[in-house]
Formats: sequence, structure tokens, C-alpha cells
Amino acid sequence: METSKKRESSISSFDRSKSYWNEAIPQTSPFPTLAENLETDVVIIGGGLAGVSTAYCLSKAGKKIVLVEDGNIGSGETGHTTAHLVTALDDRFTHFVKLFGKEDTRLILQSHQAAIDFVEKTVKEEKIDCQFSRLPGFLFRHPSDDKEVLTDEFDAATEAGLELKILDRIPGMMNNQEACLEFPDQAQFHPLLYLHGLCKAIEKQGGKIYTNTHAAIINADGIITEDGWIIKADDIVVATNSPVNDLVTIHLKQNAFRTYVIAGPVEKDSVPHALWWDTGDHDVNKDFPPYHYVRLFPFNDESDLLISGGEDHPTGDLPKEDHNEATRFQRLESWTREHFPLKEITYHWSGQVMEPVDSLAFIGKNPMDKENVYIITGDSGTGMTHCTIGGLLICDLIMGIDNPWERIYRPSRMTFSSSPVFFRSLMRGIKGLLTATPGDDRVKELEAVNPGEGKICQIDGHRCGVYNDPHGAMNIVSAKCTHLGAALHWNDAEKSWDCPWHGSRFAPDGQVINGPANRNLPLYTLSDEIPLERKGE
Ligand code: FES
Repeated sequence: METSKKRESSISSFDRSKSYWNEAIPQTSPFPTLAENLETDVVIIGGGLAGVSTAYCLSKAGKKIVLVEDGNIGSGETGHTTAHLVTALDDRFTHFVKLFGKEDTRLILQSHQAAIDFVEKTVKEEKIDCQFSRLPGFLFRHPSDDKEVLTDEFDAATEAGLELKILDRIPGMMNNQEACLEFPDQAQFHPLLYLHGLCKAIEKQGGKIYTNTHAAIINADGIITEDGWIIKADDIVVATNSPVNDLVTIHLKQNAFRTYVIAGPVEKDSVPHALWWDTGDHDVNKDFPPYHYVRLFPFNDESDLLISGGEDHPTGDLPKEDHNEATRFQRLESWTREHFPLKEITYHWSGQVMEPVDSLAFIGKNPMDKENVYIITGDSGTGMTHCTIGGLLICDLIMGIDNPWERIYRPSRMTFSSSPVFFRSLMRGIKGLLTATPGDDRVKELEAVNPGEGKICQIDGHRCGVYNDPHGAMNIVSAKCTHLGAALHWNDAEKSWDCPWHGSRFAPDGQVINGPANRNLPLYTLSDEIPLERKGE
């Protein structure tokens, strides 16, 4: 069976872009790899904020828990976020009121408020030094958006229970002549320091954490790891950003997006500590306008670090050809320099956002599965609060405690995608498969891939993804996603094979980086034999 076992990559240049947050944590995992069979009350798969929050809440409530993570704690999307903790929901209150009505919008708002309060309280109780702070957030109109967007949002957010202000100018920004909305009591922290603080508390509470431990099989009895170890559990929680245990259902209800981040120093105290968000560039994409989000982090005695993110697009699919992945960083830099006195860029990274079609996370029992299997997914760009809500809600569900959020976040709610992004991505994945023509000249095909490039090639009738590393070594993988078989797209900025259907991503040597795929791409050797020979694991 082709698996997702870690591969000894020959690709020296492949290293997932590291975020600023990664620098503050141990480079080698302080947690062991699982090497025995276990029995427990709850097994949690995924060591990001959703999984770790769930493990913390359940172990605090007295449950025996085991958490497994196939990389290191926070090495997935939690380590690639910008960590805004907000009630200024980025899908906008106007949208929520239209879709869910006033009462449920209030409930949604209360859940995000409760999540921020929970983080604040936990930081104090567990004495976690993660620079948590409350601060205001400012929402301003992108010039391509409707004139009324802010007043409409003011009305809808006020009705939902928030106390906002309309300001004439945008505090802290250059070119600040526009009005903006001020959202009070937002928050920020260092996500990985918070996560590691929670892990310490989990261990103190008797919980067990294993890293570099891949759950190859997940079912209602527990998990079996890649190395064959079994964890039996009464309840199973899958918190893997995109649920790797679900083949179809949830993936018809959400779309994956790439989002980009740059960071660099600004003179200390030249910009006030706050959060900023614009309403997105409607000229680039009317359906999902790429927006921008900015925050600061204390850096050193002379500087603060300005962290600017945005320029999102559907994973594996770009709305315009001249806006490819690499140009997103350039566009983000130009936008940031127009608005903030950024000196230089010292960090850049990108992350994945799972966007549910109705903008609300899926938290609860996994649809069409046994009653004891739970999922947390669909961060919707407000991952810090959605993941924390996930931990609180799943804990209540497993402990048998009524929770008013259960109904609104229930994963089985009827919300199937009819969005233009869904259909574009579907067509893109199919088109790639249909354009394959067998029998092309392998020598010619491979010669066309320059060092540092990745391309789709036809080799001996196989549709392959070929990456020529900077040292001239060819890495040849199947270009068919191991989730449901869509045609993969080469992402030159991240040096990865990305799937337009549900957002799975693979390293150049085929190792899975993002689910829902849970298996590596077949890796081929280039020998004289035809067809290509598959490399053993
Ligand atoms: Fe579903 Fe690729 S992620 S087919």
C-alpha cells in the first residue's frame, strides 16, 4: 500500500516556508514518537490549536487523552497563521445576518467572544508567556468595494450585539484618509508559545502527546499508526485542518484557499499596536476578493515586527493567470508598503484556509460515521477562535454537557457548495486529467524542466509531476491526487503539488503536506524500463 510515511527526500531545496513563530519553539520535538499500543478514553488526531485545545479541555475535565500529530506540535496551519483573535468576523456580519438571522448571529458572535475570553483566562491560569494582549481592530474599505460596505457592516454588527465606533481616519496607517470601523477588545498572541504552554498543562493533567506519529487508519475503534501501533479509544476526534477520515461529505461543503504572509521590522512605537483588515480587492475576484490583514509583534529594543497577510486564492487555482502564487507575495509587499513604514522583509510564509460555504466551522459528530467520531474543520480565516470553540464544544459533547453552539456548528447541517469557486476548482481538476495524452517523448519532456522548476509531463503514458531540483536531480511523482484523483497543479512559490478539488498538497517528492489526502503520491524512478518503476517506501 502506498503510504504517507516520511520520505528521505533528495530535494535539498524543499523546506516548507517557516513562519516567524517557528523561531521561538524547540527545533526538535520535546515529545516522543508512539512505540507501543495504548488504550484511552479519547484519541485526538492533530497537534494544531484545535487538537491541543480539545486535549486541554478534556484532560482538565478528567478524561484520559492521547494526542497524536504526524509532524511537530503546531507544524501545520497553526504555525502558519498570523494569530488574530477576533470578533470582527471576516465573512462580515451582514453576510451572517442574511444567512442565519439575528438570533443565531448573536450566538455566533458570543461563541467567538467566549473563545477569546477562554484564551485570556487560560493564559493567566497556566501562566503561559505568549504575549497575549487585547487591542482594537480597524476594518476599512478597499477602494474597489461598495461605498456602503462599512455602514452596512456597522448596522449588522451592532444588531448582533457589538459596540463599534465609526472613525473618520484609520489609526496607525499612512494614506489613512478613509473612514473605518473600530472593533474593541480584539486580541493577539504568539500562537506556538500558547500551544506549547497548553501542552505542558495537558501533560501535567495526565494527558499523553506523541509527535511524528501518523494515524494511517482512523475508525470508531481508534487509530492504527503508520508503524502499526494501535490506540483503542472510546471517542475519536479528528482535528487535522481538513478531516483526513472523511472521503467526500465535508469536502463538498468547503473550499481550500492559500493565504500569504510577509513580516519585517518597523521602528519601535512608530505604529500603534492594533489589528487592521481591508474588505478585499473586488477587481481581482468579486466572489472571494483577496483581502489584507495586519498586526504587530514586539521584536527587539529598536523594532516591532509588522506582519501583513492576505492575497488569498483557491488552492491549486488562480483567478487570473498573471496573479500566480509567486506574484501574490509581490502584490502583498506593494500593498503593505503603501500603508505602513515597513523597512525590509525578513520573513515570508503561506498558509491554508478552509472556507465553509456558509462561513461557519464544522465542529461535532462526523456525518455518516459512528456516533463517537468527531471532527473540527472549516476555520474560515478566523482559525484561532474557531479552533478554540472546537476545543470547548467537543469537550462538552463528549462530557454529555448541553452546549447552545452544538446546533450552529453541527457538521451535518445542509450546506452544499454551489459557489463559483467550487465549480472552477472542479473543472480545473477534471481538465488536467482530460488533457493527458499518452506516448510523449520522455527525453524531450524532461529536458523542458529547468533546474528549480516543476512541470506536468507525459512520460511513457503516465501523467507525471516532475520537479528538477536546483542540483539537477529529477523527482518524478504521479500527478493524480491520492484523495479522489484530481489533476495536481504545480505551485512554484511553495514548491508543492496542489490539488484544486479539496486542497490537498504534496511536497515535490510526493509526501503529503495538507489533507484530506492521507497518502503520499507514488514516487517513480527514472530508469530505462518502461513503464516507470515505482520506488519502494
Ligand atoms: Fe480531493 Fe485532491 S483533495 S481530489
